[in-house]
Amino acid sequence: MNVEVQRVIESLRLGIPPDGYVRYFTVGRISEIAELTVRLQQSKSGALLLKANYGSGKSHLLRFIRETALKEGFAISSVTLDAKSSVRFNRMDQILGAVWRGLEIPHASGKGARPFFDFVCEQVYGSKGVAGEQWQRITNKDKWDFSQVLDSPANFIALRAWISGRCDKNIVEDWLFQTGKYTTKQIYQELVYKTRMCFRHELALTNTVKWQNYTTNSIIFNFKSDAYAQCWFTLRDIHTLACAAGLKGLIILFDEFEDVLSNISSIEHQKAAFQNLFQFFSGNRFQGMSFFAVTPEFVYKCKQRLLNKGHWDYDYSQFDRLPTFEMSPLEEDNLQELCRKISAIHGIAYGWDVNSETIELGLNSVVKRVASIAVQDRTRQTIKAIVQFLDEQLEENE
Ligand SMILES: Nc1ncnc2c1ncn2[C@@H]1O[C@H](COP(=O)(O)OP(=O)(O)O)[C@@H](O)[C@H]1O
Ligand SMILES: [Mg+2]
Repeated sequence: MNVEVQRVIESLRLGIPPDGYVRYFTVGRISEIAELTVRLQQSKSGALLLKANYGSGKSHLLRFIRETALKEGFAISSVTLDAKSSVRFNRMDQILGAVWRGLEIPHASGKGARPFFDFVCEQVYGSKGVAGEQWQRITNKDKWDFSQVLDSPANFIALRAWISGRCDKNIVEDWLFQTGKYTTKQIYQELVYKTRMCFRHELALTNTVKWQNYTTNSIIFNFKSDAYAQCWFTLRDIHTLACAAGLKGLIILFDEFEDVLSNISSIEHQKAAFQNLFQFFSGNRFQGMSFFAVTPEFVYKCKQRLLNKGHWDYDYSQFDRLPTFEMSPLEEDNLQELCRKISAIHGIAYGWDVNSETIELGLNSVVKRVASIAVQDRTRQTIKAIVQFLDEQLEENE
């Protein structure tokens, strides 16, 4: 019996294909998927709203994009905005922390700043790594006193400390995840003081025009001042570093984005969250790609909320201009196709013959029955019912 394949079935028992198998278990939506794949291959910047009802496949599509993007050579980060994750979209520092936590690169296991920074460092100084022109500019010809390319001084200092190998990487990563947890003094100690022997040139941040305002340590390591400016700079820098290390850029996937309506209570904070959303769509502050999963009523609900709170003087058309991708629920033929894929894998997992006529007919009627009763969430119910039927048949066969 095949343990890896059994793991796939375990996950399908709960109605969800496991990571790494999402592409295989994707059916239907051929044109939608082709369009998305082209979008990834062309590395278009900007954002897209993915609209579909509950259970219609938003999270699935985000996972599909994740797998495809990793295969195409992007860095990706998956962020879920539910009450549990406590990420508020008006708080760019929380968003940035969540992006760091969910960050993944191709061919590496694990998530976070660690695999990303390790990969970046390896590309510069590893055996294959050729410090090209862009790296010369990023590191100011290896002097590491300032960067001609990176926009966030804090992120630059973090990368520099990482490369030195003298800092505690656990602390650095934890600080990137939640910058507010550390004082300036603690982080200066870790990133600058402990690594000072590794660099012949002292930090000279004001040597570059764009960092001229970063004169004191408390500003250098501050992610909230100036309307969270350094958060946007860091997002941009992750994208820049990914590209410089040979990847295609950064893609951010936001699931459960409707949370901005239910979990932010103040209307001013909500407006700030909308503003951040528009920033992602404008592509001015972040040059990577981003995707936002919402239900079809999202735009209507946002406008309604603003109206109810008496915010008439708001440019509502901003919502209508957001590029959108609407998904229809899967049809019965799609579910039948999915069923064939699941039964083939079940056969491999438990080494039995799923190709008999009884089983084929049985599966057919299971799909028909479940697809006709469960309206919302029917794909998931169908997947569970298919596995349950196959499990029962297997037991009878034994
Ligand atoms: N195109 C698809 N092919 C195969 N399974 C899908 C597809 N889209 C969705 N599913 C499955 O449907 C179920 C519901 O999808 P999900 O993404 O969780 O919905 P949503 O996030 O919109 O509520 C999941 O079991 C998912 O694996
Ligand atoms: Mg979902």
